[in-house]
Amino acid sequence: MIVAIDGPAGAGKSTVARRVAGELDFRYVDTGAMYRALAWLALEQDVELDDGRALVALGRAHPVRFSGSAVYVAGHDVTVGIREARIDRVVSAVARHPEVRAHMRDRQRELAATGDAVVEGRDIGTVVCPGAGVKVYLVADETERARRRSAERPEVADEALATDLRSRDERDAAQMRPADDAAVIDTTRLPVDAVAARIIAMVEAKSPVGA
Ligand code: DC
Repeated sequence: MIVAIDGPAGAGKSTVARRVAGELDFRYVDTGAMYRALAWLALEQDVELDDGRALVALGRAHPVRFSGSAVYVAGHDVTVGIREARIDRVVSAVARHPEVRAHMRDRQRELAATGDAVVEGRDIGTVVCPGAGVKVYLVADETERARRRSAERPEVADEALATDLRSRDERDAAQMRPADDAAVIDTTRLPVDAVAARIIAMVEAKSPVGA
């Protein structure tokens, strides 16, 4: 079964998706990390972020690889590097190209096709895995999302983080909508455990014991 978890930055997707995958013993596929790794590599190799075709060529030549919680691209361990604020600021410019999205969609479908997985992103329930058994769309108040980002990026000033988050929301808006059949969960005041428990209950309801 595929569990699709979508929503804006800071809505709690990664923490919840990791927790659900761990508890269900499903694979965890972080599609945002794939866009981030491509953005990281484009900066590293001076590839124009406006050139969708060049970005696809780069992505094809250097597919992103996951090993446990580590992320690799072109021989570099980019696990930490892709979370830097400089990547936050450019990743949407990479993800906005239709040809880049088509390339990523195909790669993400391949990764999702090899068994049970929790797949996290923006367009998983709508585009990448529209047939997912469970679809969840997480949301949270802007203030709470900024607070969570600030806990993850203590080195960046709060004001700059809030501005980055807002401009990323605007640039990601084209991808950001819940699938018609997604359960929308507001995580603003919900602990991770409670959100994960709700999703796990949805998975169990779809695959009752003995079925
Ligand atoms: O979830 P994240 O913040 O790591 O995602 C990084 C960026 O990648 C996000 O700003 C938008 C883009 N993205 C996307 O367009 N589609 C996805 N399925 C996942 C991420």
